[in-house]
This record gives sequence, structure tokens and C-alpha cells, in this order.
Amino acid sequence: MSTFGKLFRVTTFGESHCASVGAIIDGCPPGLQLSAADIQVQMDRRRPGQSDLTTPRNEKDAVQLQSGLELGVTLGTPIALLVRNEDQRPHDYSETDLYPRPSHADFTYLEKYGVKASSGGGRSSARETVGRVAAGAIAERYLKIAHGVEIVAFVSSVGKIHIPVSAASVGADDENDDAPEPLSEEFRTLLATVSREDVDKHPTRCPHLATAERMKKRIIRAKAAMDSIGGTVTCVIRNLPSGLGEPVFDKFEALLAHAMLSIPATKGFELGSGFRGAEVPGSLHNDAFVRRADGGLGTASNWSGGVQGGITNGEDVYFRVGFKPPATISQAQATAQYDGTPGSLAARGRHDPCVVPRAVPIVEAMAALVAMDLLMIQKSRQAAAALLPPITTLPPTMVMPPRVKGEAA
Ligand SMILES: Cc1cc2nc3c(=O)[nH]c(=O)nc-3n(C[C@H](O)[C@H](O)[C@H](O)COP(=O)(O)O)c2cc1C
Repeated sequence: MSTFGKLFRVTTFGESHCASVGAIIDGCPPGLQLSAADIQVQMDRRRPGQSDLTTPRNEKDAVQLQSGLELGVTLGTPIALLVRNEDQRPHDYSETDLYPRPSHADFTYLEKYGVKASSGGGRSSARETVGRVAAGAIAERYLKIAHGVEIVAFVSSVGKIHIPVSAASVGADDENDDAPEPLSEEFRTLLATVSREDVDKHPTRCPHLATAERMKKRIIRAKAAMDSIGGTVTCVIRNLPSGLGEPVFDKFEALLAHAMLSIPATKGFELGSGFRGAEVPGSLHNDAFVRRADGGLGTASNWSGGVQGGITNGEDVYFRVGFKPPATISQAQATAQYDGTPGSLAARGRHDPCVVPRAVPIVEAMAALVAMDLLMIQKSRQAAAALLPPITTLPPTMVMPPRVKGEAA
């Protein structure tokens, strides 16, 4: 269906070439100061036509707040967010009347519904993500004000060009699996410090500038060859409270994976050390506990990616999402028409040669929606528990010991 979340419920609507796209949020807390400008920042980072690395389709994507707030303050009632589609050119896609685009959603939508949008990808198009980004910006604003949460995503690879040391280990079978660590210290420092300003310094949205230039050339090469190329986006969520995530089916990382793999063109998800963590022994991978300055427990390393048992532990949550090369390419491809007649499709129209620079704010938005919903669920549980008298009948080993403040270990 088109709804995501339990307490912070977001429903998106619209197709690539209809009158408008957007979202309705049900469950946003009342009292949040909010303006269209707060949302527009992320809309501008997602919109097409930002650089010669993205589709030239020109949409301003100006967001209009239709309901749910007055005098710049949310009322707790449904918030409707609307963006009018301006640059509509349905005839761009006329070949696809005959041919389902290989690896796009034309065939599967028709198989499923028996009808399909006359042009473009309909609801499978990245146009649908307008509503998610708008809703995510509101979730993010609440998280920032209430808990100082920061969410930063960036492009970590394009094709085979990776930010150094973020790449999966290469090499065939190797008995010597004691080293190296799944991610280098340099990459971990980047995760701990990178800001959106750093990310936006380069049109690729890769904050490692030497790598960014190589990525740019790779995307331009794909475009010149009337081809496309894939990549990965890495995202970090900082200052997230511990205790978020619902055992057993709605674990934090399970909902994160659900959210990320709902973004068009995604092919993979990994949390923390991810698949690289599967290559090292436990003695290297375990995150030993240490006392933090506030007396709480932290971990010396963070291969878990801030989540254990599906519940956040207060460390940074970080994860990586893999995006395929966009399916619509102008290079002629041997394929078949809807009726099975063999032929060749050279798709016309304006398309992204690589989606990852534009996917960055979408990943941030979906991360915010997951964190917001799980925060509201945990807060409602804690608020209900707080109405009960203090626990006095359990042995001390069954409750959290008092915090000893002082020097962090
Ligand atoms: C930001 C963004 C931009 C995209 N732009 C295009 C595009 O220009 N052309 C295209 O064929 N696919 C594009 N896609 C991907 C398609 O929407 C997606 O591949 C298609 O709906 C099929 O779904 P699937 O890849 O998830 O199976 C884009 C995806 C994102 C996230």
C-alpha cells in the first residue's frame, strides 16, 4: 500500500505525470513550529535538473502546506503536503506504448493491475518520492528539536569507484581473516563528522573530494555512452536515543531496511559492518562496553551500527544502500514488445544517468520516518509506564543500576 509508519503515518500520492504529487501525514505531534521553507531545503536537494549529472527534467518542486497547521505551528491534525507537477511531457515516452522498459516497472505494473499510467513510470517513478522527502523533512525537524538528532547521507560509491576503505574487501578466499577491520578509521571519522554542507560541496554528493571528481567523470562517461551507472549511499543518524525499535518483527534495522528498499532502484541494504562484518572473527567484531561521561554505557567500537537486538543502543546508527543503474537508457537494447515481438528499444526522454546524487535526501527522509515512528512508539510506552508506581519488588539484577557519573572510560 502507500502508507508507511504506525504512529507517524505517511501516505504518499501521485504519479509521474499527473497534476500533483505529495503526502498526508497523520500523527505529527502538535506544537511543532514549521514552515514550507523548512521542508523546501530537502525538496531542492531531491529535485531534478540540479546539475549535468541528473535528469534535465525541470521541476521547481515548490511544496505547499495545505492543512494541519496555523500561524506556523502544527495542530496535531493531518498535514497535507502538495507539489504540482509542472514539466509534464508525456510524449517523451511514446516507445514504451509498445515496449516495456527492461528492468523498469512497466511490465510488472501492467501484470499486477491490468492497466498502467500512459507515460513514464507512473507510481514507480522517482516522482513519488517527493511526498516522502517532504514528510521526512517534518519528521527530521521534530527529531532535531526534541533530541538533537542529525541525519546525514552521502554518496559512497559510483560504479566501482568507492570512497577509500569503504569498499567491501576484495580478493578470493583468504584464510587470514584476522585483518583488516571492516571499515577504516578514516571512513569512521568521516561518518562521525560529515555534515550536509560537506556533502553538497560537490554535485556527486560525495564528501571525499578526490573520489568525487572520479565519480563525476564516471557518471559523465555513462551519460555520453547513452548508458547509466549504479552506486551506493551511506547514511549516519547521530544522537538517537537508546531503546528505539520493536522486537521482534519491527526491529530498528528491519524497518530501516524496509524503508530503504522501498526507494525505487534500491538493490541492497547493510547495517554497521554489514557484509564486511561477515568476514571477520567475533574477537574483532564485538563492541566492548565502556562508561560514558554521563555515566551511561557506550561501546568502544560500533560495528553493530548502533543497533543490537533490533533496539538502538545510543551509538551512531549507520547503514549503506545499494542503487542499481537506472533502467531507462538511450542506447539500443534488444528486447521484446508487450506482445512478445522481438525488437530493439532506444528509450527517449530525460533520465538520470545515475540516481545516487538525488537519492541522498530520499535516504535521509526515509531514515527520519523510521526514527520518528519508533521514537513515538517508545515514548508512548514510557509515558504509560511512568503512570505506574516505582518498581520496588524486583531483585536489583533485574533493573538498570543507578548511573555513576564521572570520567568516561
Ligand atoms: C532519485 C531517483 C531518480 C530516478 N531516475 C530514474 C530515471 O531517470 N530513469 C529510470 O529509468 N529510473 C529512474 N529511477 C529508478 C526507477 O524509478 C526504478 O528503477 C523503477 O521504478 C523500477 O523499480 P526498481 O528498480 O525498484 O525495481 C530513479 C530512482 C531514484 C531514486
